[in-house]
Amino acid sequence: MNVLVIGSGGREHAIVEALSRSPKNPKIYCAPGNAGIAQLAECVAIKDTEVEKLVEFAKANNVELTVVGPEAALAAGVVDRFQQEGLLIFGPTKAAAEIEASKDFAKRLMVKYDVPTAAYATFSDFDEAMAYVRQGSLPTVLKYDGLAAGKGVVIATTMEEAEATLRDMLLDTKFGEGRVVVEEFLTGEEFSLMCFVAGNKICAMPVAQDHKRAYDNDEGPNTGGMGAYTELPFITAEDHAYAMKNIMQRVADAMVAEGTPFSGVLYGGLMKTPNGIKVIEFNARFGDPETEVVLPRLVSDAVDVFSAVARGEQPEAEWSKEATLGIVLASKGYPGNYDKGFAIRGTERVECKLYHMGTQLKDGELVTAGGRVMFVVASAPTLREAQLKAREEISKIECDNLFHRTDIGNKAFR
Ligand code: AMP
Ligand code: GLY
Repeated sequence: MNVLVIGSGGREHAIVEALSRSPKNPKIYCAPGNAGIAQLAECVAIKDTEVEKLVEFAKANNVELTVVGPEAALAAGVVDRFQQEGLLIFGPTKAAAEIEASKDFAKRLMVKYDVPTAAYATFSDFDEAMAYVRQGSLPTVLKYDGLAAGKGVVIATTMEEAEATLRDMLLDTKFGEGRVVVEEFLTGEEFSLMCFVAGNKICAMPVAQDHKRAYDNDEGPNTGGMGAYTELPFITAEDHAYAMKNIMQRVADAMVAEGTPFSGVLYGGLMKTPNGIKVIEFNARFGDPETEVVLPRLVSDAVDVFSAVARGEQPEAEWSKEATLGIVLASKGYPGNYDKGFAIRGTERVECKLYHMGTQLKDGELVTAGGRVMFVVASAPTLREAQLKAREEISKIECDNLFHRTDIGNKAFR
């Protein structure tokens, strides 16, 4: 069986690795892939948004299942095109992916179907937005409505900051033409609940927690994620059941009712607030870096799970009982400017999962090629052991230009 994975980061490395464990022993292609993925799959030089080339490749190589990683590919309509050609593909259509691409779409859906989330209003006019913000309390959350690569959310703690941000977003159109969602500021522990979704049929993955800030103690700028772990002691079975029923299942049903049934991974970015669990955001794809700590626990055949979802059948997945914890090695300077091309040594000594995020082979040598470079993921019977192991394993990797957080998972022990 031939399988194609679209994307090139740690998330796609984890997807490829899960597929490689399938007893069906599939031949795996990855477009475009990376140096780590190349150890498990044949990398193909097609970008994730080159939809027609991907369709052509899948046809020419008898690809029976395609799995989409990045949201850029979804936004480019890759799923719609594959479906038009009768090719089996795991991921939502462009219309269903609106739940991530448009914050306003997601908010309207949640209000209509009574899904718990922060109070909000949407504006395209600067003066109206300012008037609304002045009436409310601080801090206030300002979200640019559109794909802004994670930079579209500002938590303003003063009126001056709120005004400057709204000016950037609505008057100076620094992010492009768009609207702004002004949202109530929520407090509590954040967590990620990803579900396989096939229309109204859903199946939960283990709950994970991302660490978005660059430095220890959640200080420094927001990043693509500096570490993650499963399971979360502060999310009880009751919390989980509540979130599945009132958030994930309700949204899956709502998407069907709205005529844009969801297929693929619905990612709930949730917060356990003093007033119950609420939605911060939805993503229409596997989370990164959550996927890298979740998929290692998949016991079921990944080909079967992804195929069932793509066919609209009830997904069923068995998960191992262990805990997982992963620490990202990032280039010094990330998420700001950083240099590339530094040699990475010692990876062959690492005795746990090692996902490549931004690496390259240069003259046969592994070198840094991105902001986030590698992700060390350890599994163990307890989270403590997984944390110790990840720390031990990461110390084996030598490179002159990498840094990592030392407190990944500590929130679980407070
Ligand atoms: P998002 O891009 O929507 O995930 O937002 C980025 C980060 O901003 C989230 O991970 C939260 O930490 C924070 N955030 C977003 N919305 C809110 C909110 N309503 N209240 C508090 N924090 C928020
Ligand atoms: N971990 C957050 C995201 O994938 O968007």
